[in-house]
Amino acid sequence: THIMHLSNFLPCYLFRSGSSSSLSFRSHTCGQLRSEHIGEKVTLCGWVQYLSRQDLFVILRDFSGLTQVLIPQQEVSVPHDSRGSHQTHFIQLPWRVKRRPLPSSMKSRGDVEVLAEDVEVFNVCQKLPFEIKDFVKKSESLRMQFRYLDLRSSSLQKNLRLRSQLVMRMREYLSRLLIFPTPRLGAKEFVVPSRDPGRFYSLPQSPQQFKQLLMVAGIDRYFQIARCYRDEGSKPDRQPEFTQVDIEMSFVDQAGIMSLVEGLLEYSWPAEKGPLPLPFPCVTYEEAMRDYGVDKPDTRFGMKLTDLRDVFLSTDIGFFKSAVSKAGSSVLAICVPRGAVRANFFLLGEQDHFLFLLEVSLVLVREDGTLKSPLKKLLSGPATDAVLRKTAAEPGDLLLIAAGPIEVLRPMLGSLRLQCAELLESHGLTVRDSSAFHFLWVVDFPLFLPKKDEPEQLESAHHPFTAPAPEDTALLYTQPEKVRGQHYDLVLNGCEIGGGSVRIHKASEQLHVLKNILKEDPTVLSHLLEALDSGAPPHAGIALGLDRLVSIMVGASSIRDVIAFPKSFRGHDLMSRAPDFVSDEELKSYHISVKWPAETGGPDRKCGDLEQR
Ligand code: AMO
Repeated sequence: THIMHLSNFLPCYLFRSGSSSSLSFRSHTCGQLRSEHIGEKVTLCGWVQYLSRQDLFVILRDFSGLTQVLIPQQEVSVPHDSRGSHQTHFIQLPWRVKRRPLPSSMKSRGDVEVLAEDVEVFNVCQKLPFEIKDFVKKSESLRMQFRYLDLRSSSLQKNLRLRSQLVMRMREYLSRLLIFPTPRLGAKEFVVPSRDPGRFYSLPQSPQQFKQLLMVAGIDRYFQIARCYRDEGSKPDRQPEFTQVDIEMSFVDQAGIMSLVEGLLEYSWPAEKGPLPLPFPCVTYEEAMRDYGVDKPDTRFGMKLTDLRDVFLSTDIGFFKSAVSKAGSSVLAICVPRGAVRANFFLLGEQDHFLFLLEVSLVLVREDGTLKSPLKKLLSGPATDAVLRKTAAEPGDLLLIAAGPIEVLRPMLGSLRLQCAELLESHGLTVRDSSAFHFLWVVDFPLFLPKKDEPEQLESAHHPFTAPAPEDTALLYTQPEKVRGQHYDLVLNGCEIGGGSVRIHKASEQLHVLKNILKEDPTVLSHLLEALDSGAPPHAGIALGLDRLVSIMVGASSIRDVIAFPKSFRGHDLMSRAPDFVSDEELKSYHISVKWPAETGGPDRKCGDLEQR
């Protein structure tokens, strides 16, 4: 470390005041000093946030806040070569605390300031790519490239510290309650080459099979804060490398795991976020889809989907009538409060191409209670009344009405519901309380769903180890598409923050699911089938997505803001430049050669740098 004096006159030494802690050079943190410290001798360490002209004072910063430090003019002057980029010298200061006559604009730095007796500069820094100030705007890619600087920002510091406290509380709770870690069929794994020709490892998407094997091994109860890897591209709530609070227990049922998770969240929930009302509400998958058009409903606001089938059955409106007379089709509506008042300038303006594509009818409810819509002429008086009553529409509201197969309509109106909330909020209306935390359990999912590209073939709705609902077990052998699984998702403010299930613990049932329903090669999982056949106990578990949970707790717009070293949107590490090229020589030992796309022909660092910095 390059150590420099701030003073040309004082000798360079490491000052340890009597009050400094034995663990660290410092006695206090910068944000800690208050009026009760007046007169005390303190030792502070931190970065220089600001150095005033003529070296009158310095504002020192560490993770906990800022302190203003006066530099006695007769003794200390700052050498010019240490002033280049003044906000980032890392210094230690033993000082005396005194009351600070402050203008109110500076109150955030406390009501005391410190009079320096001695100053030691631990290090200096070159010009930084951006200033470490929250109000200084920087591009996302620059922040990612210099993540270690971005991490100094107060918001990221706050996020990561809250995350760490939460995890500590979770460990405390779970270690008291529990004791004590394959690929999953379905999601994409990262593969890692081995020196055995043609053989690859795969990074764990989750410790699913291993935690089940621990139950077979008689471990009985397990938890782990587990790092997981999925090759599925970044989204605001998704990262290729993320963290789960992973739990498994023997001799437990769905209700047992749900109440364990509620207790865990209640225990680790930071006091400043307000109390958590327990138990969390619970809806079935069918109810969630029926009312919200999505299996992870944001229950902070209404605007639920309303079924108008009965109303349109009695009308003669061609398209609607034919839709409601078909099995599995209906007419659904959502009512956007105050939407008619605003519809002209946003829904019909910016969004009309979207609505047109989805063939949604717009019905504005005028302030006098009459309708404004092409549908108006076609609806009789009683039918109009029924629409208004069923949707609970008030004057000034907007109705969005659509007809078609419900498996298409529900998700469509579900996503329209969220878009309407965003639009209303972008126009200054409060739809969702940003400080509210609405937890919700969703249960009774279908065990299998038709594959998207081969609808006649079934795939697991979650993973193939989920047990069927006891009353549906017989259907597993006759109508598997009708079977409900013992799966439960935990949703927070419309985001899935956890999922788990009661597991199949009988080898014959697991084999049937893999071989006959999913048409998978069961030899891939022969180790698990053998283990289940050796007296596996009934067991169940869950995994909470820690990054998603923390990001919602702190109100971050992306989970990147609660991960110390996240990957970019395209899955790249812009700081260490991963993924990077590997030489042919290195690849040889893995028996791998790269087939370059015709347009590149070989490694080109510039075009390999896939992302604009
Ligand atoms: P699942 O796949 O539902 O279940 O994952 C559990 C939770 O992990 C979080 N999550 C993610 N978070 C960030 N980035 C990702 N790419 C990502 N993928 C998932 C979500 C999700 O709810 N083994 C089972 C759990 C079990 O059955 O016990 C599993 O992994 O919040």
